[in-house]
Amino acid sequence: MSHDALSVPTTSAPPYPTEPRPTPERPVWPRGTTALRFGGDYNPEQWTRETWLEDIELMKRAGVNLVSVGIFNWGLIEPREGEYDFSQLDEIMDLLAGAGIDVDLGTPTASPPAWFWRSYPESRPVTRDGLPLAFGSRGMASPSSPDYRRAAVRVTEQLARRYASHPALAMWHVHNEYGAPVSESYDEHSVRAFRSWLQRRYGTLDGLNTTWGTAFWGQRYQSWDEIDAPRRAATVTNPTQRLDFARFTSDALLECFVAERDIIRRHTPELPVTTNFMATNCPSVDLWRWAREVDVVANDHYLVAERPDNHILLSMDADLTRSIAGGRPWMLMEHSTSAVNWQGRNIAKRPGELKRNSLAHLARGADAVMFFQFRASRSGAEKFHSAMLPHAGTETKVWRAVEELGADLAALSPLRGSTVTSRVAILWDWQSFWAQDLEWRPSVDMQHRERIEAFYTELWQLGVTTDFAHPESDISGYDLVVAPSLYLVSSAAGANLARYVEQGGTLLVSFGSGLVDENEAVHPGGFPGPLRDPLGLSIEELLPFRLGETATLDNGGTADVWADDIILGSAEPVIRFTDGRAEGQPALTRNSFGAGTAWYLSTRPDAGTLRRILEGSLAEAGVAVEAPPAGVETVVRSSEASSWRILLNHNASEVAVEAHGRNALSGERLDGEVTIAAGDVLIVETPKQRG
Ligand code: GLA
Repeated sequence: MSHDALSVPTTSAPPYPTEPRPTPERPVWPRGTTALRFGGDYNPEQWTRETWLEDIELMKRAGVNLVSVGIFNWGLIEPREGEYDFSQLDEIMDLLAGAGIDVDLGTPTASPPAWFWRSYPESRPVTRDGLPLAFGSRGMASPSSPDYRRAAVRVTEQLARRYASHPALAMWHVHNEYGAPVSESYDEHSVRAFRSWLQRRYGTLDGLNTTWGTAFWGQRYQSWDEIDAPRRAATVTNPTQRLDFARFTSDALLECFVAERDIIRRHTPELPVTTNFMATNCPSVDLWRWAREVDVVANDHYLVAERPDNHILLSMDADLTRSIAGGRPWMLMEHSTSAVNWQGRNIAKRPGELKRNSLAHLARGADAVMFFQFRASRSGAEKFHSAMLPHAGTETKVWRAVEELGADLAALSPLRGSTVTSRVAILWDWQSFWAQDLEWRPSVDMQHRERIEAFYTELWQLGVTTDFAHPESDISGYDLVVAPSLYLVSSAAGANLARYVEQGGTLLVSFGSGLVDENEAVHPGGFPGPLRDPLGLSIEELLPFRLGETATLDNGGTADVWADDIILGSAEPVIRFTDGRAEGQPALTRNSFGAGTAWYLSTRPDAGTLRRILEGSLAEAGVAVEAPPAGVETVVRSSEASSWRILLNHNASEVAVEAHGRNALSGERLDGEVTIAAGDVLIVETPKQRG
């Protein structure tokens, strides 16, 4: 057979699918009330019937209208392979239905029971170092194990058939957090599935050899059977093989979701099916692809308790979730009322924080606010995790805050379905992260995530609501697009970004972008690949700094981590280095390209400089900025009838703001200066003019 390397498929055609699937016939929200959804995971299997009755009374008292049930009960409903016992779940479903509380019914496939592991030991996931993972914790089997897949769809079929017409059932929750704690598995089933995935992707071995660059270090393959998962080897493993294994893993997990989802859809076509994502916190699944497969996007978010800026990271996570949901309302499926148990120091939330966190998600598009979990567990690995109902019971600050939140959400029902708009987008690509996180990059200090957080933080401080976008998606609606250290830029993304600028957009690119293409190969002609034209420059050599090295800039600022040896084309220098390894070189350039402008920032500047650069590019893009008082977060949600300005005071002291409209929480009229107490939230509703 003749092999043509040029026939290698790339991600450039067809375009990267990032928009939600147009599925108007699919239900996109849990059946039932038009109110906002409020509740959490409920694990009755840990408690007696007497406690269930008390729980249900307390749920009603707090205004809970949705609970996620059954996520970890596989061993209970299928105690032995093929034998089912639904007696407990039947009773719980009936009790909840009787209380008018809807159920988001889980499939329990994130944690197979003991019998499964004993019968199918070869389904155990295997680490990159070759260690098979044991039972006694939680975590699915190898996503490519046929025995796991068979068992998972069988129990799903049983559940879907049994509860299809149950009055409590409002939606389905498949599995739990795909990608954590099991993502890449190096077991034999995965190796075989990886080979088939590669055959589909490349068609020919020559295609694979060319794309993986196997001529380097003598890695050429003569037969598909020679290809293995990229296990730990003597030194750095082929980076394209690793990138493909990451893609394969995301796809293999997605196949597991789709298999369960399709069974459920056959039984309950009228109900939405989802799975809970972790937008900024699960690096192993490509959520741009995954979001197209769920009926409604659901997300879990936990504060990084140690970080003083964790409220900004929360906003970033919520904005990314809204973006993968294509702007549609989404569900906050889990967050915590107070401490989480899996961080080094499990720092409790302070008064007001539960409300602020919950309403920050709501501000950024969540129409459901749910927690892990309703009642705190007394035993097991998560007994130090907070819950809606703490160990200490109802005479607690947490419970009172839960009740107050239930009342607040009831008052905020009119926000249901309203949306958030943004004129600015930050580019986010899981595949670029996978590539950039491999070894032997130009500098360990070039951290895409750190840069995204830095750019996002400055935009947040300026009060600019930001979307996230895939670099190959339609970005034409944004006035400013920011690419913080976007290491991998596919040819299609490069063309997309160039077109965006040419047609009038403003693009701000930071260092380390466009270093490789979709196959982890350097673009022909050098750095920064397809961004050379829109940026009006090329890079002769990358100039990463030593650890701790800094340089000064001619705007009075400082910089570290990186510089480039830039050859200016049509771009003009705006800021230059005044000393150091890049003395005299541009640190910031500006280029007119077609009807638009492209900026290049070749270093990591101090925060003040970054803020001013963003202000400059926002002004150029025509985005008016009205920065809120320091420490105050502000976001607008709108419907056809009204708009709501949500102001969250993250300061330890009160702030005064100007507000006209109706206080959506208290009903009070606002007309002039209003004080927001320390740590509190103000939501100002303004009806839209009609006619
Ligand atoms: C995740 C899981 C939950 C629970 C929480 C604890 O989000 O989905 O089951 O373990 O973490 O924070």
